[in-house]
Order: sequence, then structure tokens, then C-alpha cells
Amino acid sequence: MELYKNDLAFEWANKTHDENRQGESLVKDRPLHIPSNGKKFYIESYGCAMNFSDSEIVASVLTEQGYDSTKNFEEADIVFINTCSIRDKAEQTVRNRLDNLKVIKKRNPGALIGVLGCMAERLKEKLVEEEKLVDIVAGPDAYRTLPALIEEASGGQKAVNVLLSRDETYGDISPVRLSSNGITAFVSITRGCDNMCAFCVVPYTRGRERSRHPDSIVQEVKDLASRGFKEITLLGQNVDSYRWSEDETIRGKKLIELKDTDHVFNFANLLERVAQEVPQMRIRYSTSHPKDMMDDVLHIMAKYDNICKYIHLPVQSGSSSCLERMNRTYDRAWYLDRIAAIRRIVPEATISTDIIAGFCGETEEEHQETLSLMKEVKFILSYMYYYSERPGTLAAKKYTDDVPLEIKKKRLQEIVDLQRKHAHESNIEDVGKYFEVLIEGVSKKNEQQLFGRTSQSKVCVFDKGTHQLGDLVRVKVTSCTSGTLIAEVI
Ligand code: SAH
Ligand code: SF4
Ligand code: F3S
Repeated sequence: MELYKNDLAFEWANKTHDENRQGESLVKDRPLHIPSNGKKFYIESYGCAMNFSDSEIVASVLTEQGYDSTKNFEEADIVFINTCSIRDKAEQTVRNRLDNLKVIKKRNPGALIGVLGCMAERLKEKLVEEEKLVDIVAGPDAYRTLPALIEEASGGQKAVNVLLSRDETYGDISPVRLSSNGITAFVSITRGCDNMCAFCVVPYTRGRERSRHPDSIVQEVKDLASRGFKEITLLGQNVDSYRWSEDETIRGKKLIELKDTDHVFNFANLLERVAQEVPQMRIRYSTSHPKDMMDDVLHIMAKYDNICKYIHLPVQSGSSSCLERMNRTYDRAWYLDRIAAIRRIVPEATISTDIIAGFCGETEEEHQETLSLMKEVKFILSYMYYYSERPGTLAAKKYTDDVPLEIKKKRLQEIVDLQRKHAHESNIEDVGKYFEVLIEGVSKKNEQQLFGRTSQSKVCVFDKGTHQLGDLVRVKVTSCTSGTLIAEVI
């Protein structure tokens, strides 16, 4: 079962969804009251859960205008690729894909090709110069203008909109999820990021952080519940900095600029409201930031059974000096204090992380500190990467990418090996224990088996019996691998 492996090839999307969804396409029905305009679009997504969620917004915007979606790019009039820039490899994947798409224009010279998402935002007009077949370039805040951009490109012009917004949250656009499993869904609560981690391109591609109105979030979760969805993941680059105020000036402030007298509705408040108002829904969230994850959120987690006991808390490095160069604004001791708070307040919670090997100037000692932190925390899962310099970031401006590739790879391998050991040990500890599992699908390896996740986000497989997708079942774990719990339903 390869569903939940600790693998370098996995992108962020898999933190919250355990299939490898890179390159997945999406179909969405046109609303019944909207007549077809006779044109079909195809959309394919790369990168993180936020991008997959955005593709659904794009599909909503287009179907509202009478476009039909297709799962077959060869019959599409417009082909969109929603892209990721997080590492160089992510961009190379997209460029290779664009090369493959040349056939579309050979067959149908009138077809349009559009690049959306983070790579569109990072490269802007340069993208249409470098990739001649691209007709439309739209950044993450420009999706409402897609119908106009298509119009413009249909007239033979290159159409580009990469304006970032300070208030676009697409809160009023309801993303109907027809391509999903119908059981789990993402609900985005913030867009953008105000942190300036030295290695990271996201603040440049996604712009300033802004939070979505809580009413529109709760409404979306209720809609999902009424359509039979059983689990949602509240999504943001840094969910802990979610805050809402009806007062626009307060809303516009950065987290550190807020005063005690500025009453805001924060992430703990949001989590509690969703847990109370949609009690039948299982709730997850991602991603937490160690500097902002306070005890109030943990207390809410502990208080509500329908909030899953799992926290993704990216550490990036176990060395305080390296964390300082990374501009993560916390140190090793602070991170370990947050881990201690989780263990104290939500003792049954599991913890996963992200780690970067070979950041600028990383010494062997600093690398050893990452390994020692891993040994202290024993993450159940890690997303592990070696550092890839991104143009324009703080690190690219300030530091030299001076750790040789072989060393980066060697350190990464050590991290991966240690993580695999910890994951296996953690699974072995679960053998003999009982868990509640939400059934998400049929096992890829064995059609007679189903899979789902425990509240702690561990993937569990068991015999099908008479159980249905979407059922919540109680299981006893009988054995395990390093990536999966094997269980029987009781
Ligand atoms: N907002 C989330 C994650 C954003 S990107 C957070 O703060 O945790 C997902 C992960 O990609 C990061 O946590 C980091 O581990 C990795 N990453 C980001 N930039 C990278 C780079 N330039 N090279 C290698 N890995 C990177
Ligand atoms: Fe990037 Fe840091 Fe923002 Fe995460 S918190 S998206 S790593 S800048
Ligand atoms: Fe996500 Fe990649 Fe953009 S990780 S925010 S799609 S750079």
C-alpha cells in the first residue's frame, strides 16, 4: 500500500490528501439554469492543496459563464494548467507538461492554453515570452477575470492578469466538488502569507495574507455536510494567523500589529464555531505555524470529539542558527515547547512536519541537530526536501546556496531513513489498539480492501465486508508496515 509513504516525491498536497494528485484533472457540471456556450475547458493541477482548491473556484467561474468541463484535454477548447513554484523541480514538471501539450495546437489551432497559479504569478509576462504556446497567464487572485482573458486571447492577443489583491478570498464562490470522493473536502480559510521564510516563494506568488469571512466558511461546511461530505480540512498557509473583524482597519493589520484592544475572531474561535455548528463533520486543519500555534487552539481540539487529533507543524530544521537564517522566527527550544504543549493538552494527538535539508550555510552539526530533534519528537510523518533556491526570495538575495548537491542528498537520505524508522515504530505501537476510521476509498493494491484514516491521520486498510465509502467504522489494528495500519473492523 503506497498511499501514505514518507517519500521525497510527495508534494504538500499530500499532507492533507494521501493520494498522489499531481496532474489530476477536474470535472464540474454546468449549473442547470446556465445555457452552454459550446466551449469546453480542461484543468489540471499541481502543487499544494490550496491549488487544488483554487482549481474548483476556476471551474465555478467558468461553468457560471456557460463553459463545460472535460476530463479529456484533447477535446478541450481551453486547457488550463494550475502550477506550483515551490521548488525548481515543480516548475520543471510544468514545463515538461507544456511541451506535451503542443500536440493540442497541432490538432486544433484555435485551442487556447492558459497557465494559472504560482508559476504564472512568479514569471508573469515572461511566461508568454518563454513558452510560445501559452495564450493566457492568470495569477491566483485573477480568476474572476478568466472569462475576459479568454475573450481577449480568442482575439489573438496574449492575455495576462497577475494582479495580487489584498482582499480577494473568493468567499462568495461555492466550489462544487464533483470530481472528488464525495467524502473529504478542503475549505480554504485564508489566502496568501505574511511570513517571510527566507527559502519560500509563496509570499511572492500568493501575496498578502487575508482571511475569509467566518459566515462564508461555516456556510460552505454546512453545504458540504448536506451533500454527504464527512470530513473537511480547513486550509491556509498558516491557519493560526486566521483572524476576522468587521472593522476593515483591524482586518488589514498584520498579526504582530494587533493590539489587545483589537477584538478579533481568531482561529481557535473559528475552529470552535465550525465544530459546534456542524457537529457531524470530522474537522482537520493545515498548516499550523510553530510561532503562532498557541494553547487556545489546542484546548479547542481537546474539547471537541469531531476535531481530529492530528497536527501538522513544520519545523524545517532542528538547529536554532539555521532557523534564524531561514527567518522562521522561532528557535529549537520554542518548537519543543510547542510540542510539549500538544502532548500536555491533547495527549492523543499525532504530529507531522516538514524538513528542509541543506539550506544555505547548513553545517554538519546543524544537520545533526535536525536528526536529534526528530528523535525527540518522533513525527509520525514528514515531508522532506532538499533546499532548492527560488529566485527573488530572501535567501537568494542574502545567502549563497553553498551546500553541494551530493551533501544535500546525503543529509536528506539520513532524514528520510530516520523518519521511516520512527513511522514504523509509531505504527507498531498502535498494533492491538482500537480506532475510529472514516472510509475514504478502495485500496489500490487489493480491491477487496478499503482504506480510511484514523483521527490521528494514520492510513488504515481492512477487508471490505459490507462496509460503504463514507462509513465511520471501529477497527482493531492487527499488524502494520511503516506506512499503513492493517486492521479488522469490529
Ligand atoms: N505554509 C506552509 C508550507 C508551505 S510550502 C508552512 O509554512 O509550513 C511546503 C513546504 O515546502 C515547506 O514547509 C518547506 O518544507 C518546503 N519548501 C518551501 N520552499 C522550499 C525550497 N525553496 N526548497 C525546498 N523546500 C521548500
Ligand atoms: Fe512559505 Fe513560510 Fe509562508 Fe509557509 S509560512 S508559506 S514556508 S513563507
Ligand atoms: Fe502551493 Fe506551490 Fe503555490 S506549494 S502556494 S502551489 S508555490
